[in-house]
Amino acid sequence: MMKHLSASDIDEACELMLRSNVVAVPTETVYGLAAVATDSDAVDKIFKAKHRPADNPLIVHISSVGQLEDLCFPTETAYMLAERFWPGPLTMILPKKDCIPDNVSAGLDTVAVRMPSNPIAHEIILRTGPFAAPSANLSGKPSATEFSHVVRDFDDSEFVAAGIDGGKCINGLESTVVSLIGVPTLLRPGFVTAEQLREVIPNLQIAHAVLEQMKNGEKPLSPGMAHRHYAPEAKTIAVSGSLFSVASYIAEHRTEKTTFICRDDEEPISFCSTITIGTTSEDAGRNLFAALREADETDTDLIYVRIPDTEGVGLAVRNRLLRAASFNIADCDKESAKFILGITGQSGAGKNYVCGIFEKYGFLHIDTDRLAAEVREKKADILNEAFPGILINGVIDKKELAKQAFSSQKKTDLLNRIMHGAIMDEVRSIISASESKLFIVNGAALFEAGTELYDYVIAVTADERSRLERIKKRDGISETEALLRFSAQKPEEYYTRADFVIRNNLNEDPRPEVIHVLRDIIDKERHKHEQSDIHSKKCI
Ligand code: TXA
Ligand code: MG
Repeated sequence: MMKHLSASDIDEACELMLRSNVVAVPTETVYGLAAVATDSDAVDKIFKAKHRPADNPLIVHISSVGQLEDLCFPTETAYMLAERFWPGPLTMILPKKDCIPDNVSAGLDTVAVRMPSNPIAHEIILRTGPFAAPSANLSGKPSATEFSHVVRDFDDSEFVAAGIDGGKCINGLESTVVSLIGVPTLLRPGFVTAEQLREVIPNLQIAHAVLEQMKNGEKPLSPGMAHRHYAPEAKTIAVSGSLFSVASYIAEHRTEKTTFICRDDEEPISFCSTITIGTTSEDAGRNLFAALREADETDTDLIYVRIPDTEGVGLAVRNRLLRAASFNIADCDKESAKFILGITGQSGAGKNYVCGIFEKYGFLHIDTDRLAAEVREKKADILNEAFPGILINGVIDKKELAKQAFSSQKKTDLLNRIMHGAIMDEVRSIISASESKLFIVNGAALFEAGTELYDYVIAVTADERSRLERIKKRDGISETEALLRFSAQKPEEYYTRADFVIRNNLNEDPRPEVIHVLRDIIDKERHKHEQSDIHSKKCI
């Protein structure tokens, strides 16, 4: 049985360790299962407690750089890295000395060493000497970043004498591991990032197994790379792609008991229960293992986790996630066809702002009002034919064009025919040249220009006060001028025949309405596909 200790019980913890016992110890990365590094009997208990394969070596934890030479043969680079990153979450692999028992190094002639910054871990090393410790989890399970995780895995263990509750680990991911044997190589990314390491060792290589599955029969640079890792009980799938595609994918593939692990701002659109892990890669690092464990505490049978990019700590998060998912990756963007939304509304309704929200979900925003200026220049000759005298020194006189074009309905129609056709050609060519799959085309005259391009059309509306305030501010005009402009425009009903309407009054957040629309769209699309499946089966 594991005795529960606190930071004030360090004496007792050290006594236990000095009598060949294993104690779970907090570090700044994850909890470790610690035994005095030179005590091979105690180290044996660690392997038994974790059910750890004997070929997977342990990290030796030290409290001063001086101890390095007691344990291994440090290189110049090792001292430079120690100077910059210790105490902290960096482990170095170096040629070992004989005092390291065989089970600690798993028979290799190298040893992994790191100097933790956690004060409890530091204090223990001062009293017991260097300790060997792997992460304090059952082999293959997510690492323990809170004391409750250690309790969950080892409370009943006959091999773990005690555990010290040191609260939540501040990093939450295991240390960065760098091999200094031969060309310096990153074996496991962590909170000390590849970018930071390269400031000290520009020739750092990154082992391919950091982000790729090892090939059958390949010899790993680090034994840990070959083992199953961090896996929750529930089937786990790493999902990539835009947030909209991911939500569509989950809506289609979820079970009754699916959990989506995502960042705080990614949650609302999902179609299942969610666990959020903060907003930055650092947050994700801190919270990923706890989230995987939390999902397992429920009756979840399927976990989706969104893959982060590989910058900074993101590389470490992605590395752990890919292993937690046994390299089971779903690229949610891959199979989808191009999907195009149109968005329109009266001036001052805030179409641009609403488009900004759609961009967060992965839509590429095409602003036709902005395109109009370019198109006018491109079509200058044709316009000049239709409205003689508007070209002055090759430049269109916009005032003259407006004067002529708005002198009669027939002329207005002529201008629109030229411009709308040309703008839509431009929109089509942007869409076909783009790698993006999701588009939102924004225009005041969407209906006039024809809506056959769009899968759905959305209208943005706002009350007159909101629109007035926005227009006055945006264009620097008076209330009277703004009202005059409004009187020449189409009424709200002209726009609200769209498939969806989003209200966007001043001082109200349109985000929930956008999310609502996105969910409706996903539902409608699924329904359509189901119908077409049924239809195609009937045909057979
Ligand atoms: O943050 C950490 O590093 C935590 C805390 C407790 O310090 N410890 C930790 O240990 O994550 P563990 O055993 O879960 O991971 C150590 C990794 C394993 O992948 C192991 O294969 C690798 O380091 N390793 C240890 N010694 C090695 C060696 N001599 N050569 C190559 N890889 C080694
Ligand atoms: Mg581990």
